[in-house]
Amino acid sequence: MEYAFFLGSNPGLSAVEVHDYFKRTKIVADFDLSRLPKYLIVKTNENLKCQAIIDGLGGTPMIAQIIGELSELSAEAILEIAGLDNRFSENQKPIFSISFETFTTSLSDSKSPRDIRTLGIQIKKLLNKKGCRVIVPQTGTVLSTAQLFNSGVPFKAIGIHIVELEKARYSAMIVSAVQDIDFYTRRDRERPEADPGKGMLPVKLAQIFINFTKAEIGSKIYDPFCGAGTIVAEAMLQGFNVVATDISLRQVERTKINTDWLKNTFPNLIDPRKNVLVMAQDIEKPLREIENNSLDAVASEGWLGPATNHELSAFEIENVFVRTQQLLYALLNNINNVLKSGATVVVALPAFRVDKRIVRAPFMQEELRKFLPKGYSVENLVPEGWVNPAFRDAGQGMMLYGRPDAVILRDIVRLRKN
Ligand SMILES: C[S@@+](CC[C@H](N)C(=O)[O-])C[C@H]1O[C@@H](n2cnc3c(N)ncnc32)[C@H](O)[C@@H]1O
Repeated sequence: MEYAFFLGSNPGLSAVEVHDYFKRTKIVADFDLSRLPKYLIVKTNENLKCQAIIDGLGGTPMIAQIIGELSELSAEAILEIAGLDNRFSENQKPIFSISFETFTTSLSDSKSPRDIRTLGIQIKKLLNKKGCRVIVPQTGTVLSTAQLFNSGVPFKAIGIHIVELEKARYSAMIVSAVQDIDFYTRRDRERPEADPGKGMLPVKLAQIFINFTKAEIGSKIYDPFCGAGTIVAEAMLQGFNVVATDISLRQVERTKINTDWLKNTFPNLIDPRKNVLVMAQDIEKPLREIENNSLDAVASEGWLGPATNHELSAFEIENVFVRTQQLLYALLNNINNVLKSGATVVVALPAFRVDKRIVRAPFMQEELRKFLPKGYSVENLVPEGWVNPAFRDAGQGMMLYGRPDAVILRDIVRLRKN
């Protein structure tokens, strides 16, 4: 079986996330990078539970099963390869959607929105089913995740996705899962303690952090800078036991309010047997109340400096980096006893955009390995042997996350306790 994992706005990070998700959930798969940055091909011997998988991934808006290749884009060819006639179940209202995109930029615009609309209508005619509905993109040739989701793909409608690989060579796919946009919006905006627009950690990035830990289902994850608890909430949804601390009593309170809201609002999605412990703790002081040798992983955004919308001066940046380094080293020293051996520590540290250049912490790049407290090593995020331009920011094992207009970016690093 071959699946295409379509990757979000940061394809390098998202591809690594898929890899780590498979490792942590122990699903055996091979990966083919040849279609990056658009999609990652995942080859498996089993039918994947795509909806459950996509719910656990922050960086994959759509998963489609690759069903074969076509040399011409005709309604007959699509109908045949997709076995469309037999795919509608008895009680399913026949609805299908069709989207088309080109893989390489040199082929872009090789089909117009009108071509795709015509194709949809021709398939509908061939299907010869009364009341069959076809959904085509209103603009362009690709249906957005929101359009697919709102059309009921994949449960109530069948999504056909065609990718032009090169001239007269098309990959035909059936959409297996799309990200549940409503659920993301609710987690992001409806939680009682949210501060929209204030550089808050996006829910999808919180999921990526958790997957980067490669922690197995049911293990215990720690966020030592929990703030309003975005990572805590996502870890709970993924079935982890969670410990969360923050120096600020107000932030501890916010995490408690948000996690209570999550449990009460989505009781069916949270396993009541799992523990969530939230308390105040200055990470520069010895840890109290966390049992030795009890944590499987740390996933944390860390301190990113003062919240700001404007570019910082070189002096200000230098100060933030010095403080970040102190906090990182204090964290690693103080959690050493509570981490199990082999535990992973995934943290984000700040990077800054200055004059369209990105300034990353110097200690992250050159000195991190040299000055790490004893017992830790840096573990590259990009898997061994993965070479692709999508990973060009990933120097020294770290990966950058930042919106194109963001002044503060996040530099993600993974360490391992030896
Ligand atoms: C960028 S915020 C984390 C936001 C969080 N990811 C969320 O979802 O809201 C960083 C947090 O680090 C906390 N912090 C700063 N210094 C700390 C220290 N010495 N020990 C523990 N927490 C600290 C701050 O109170 C703040 O809540």
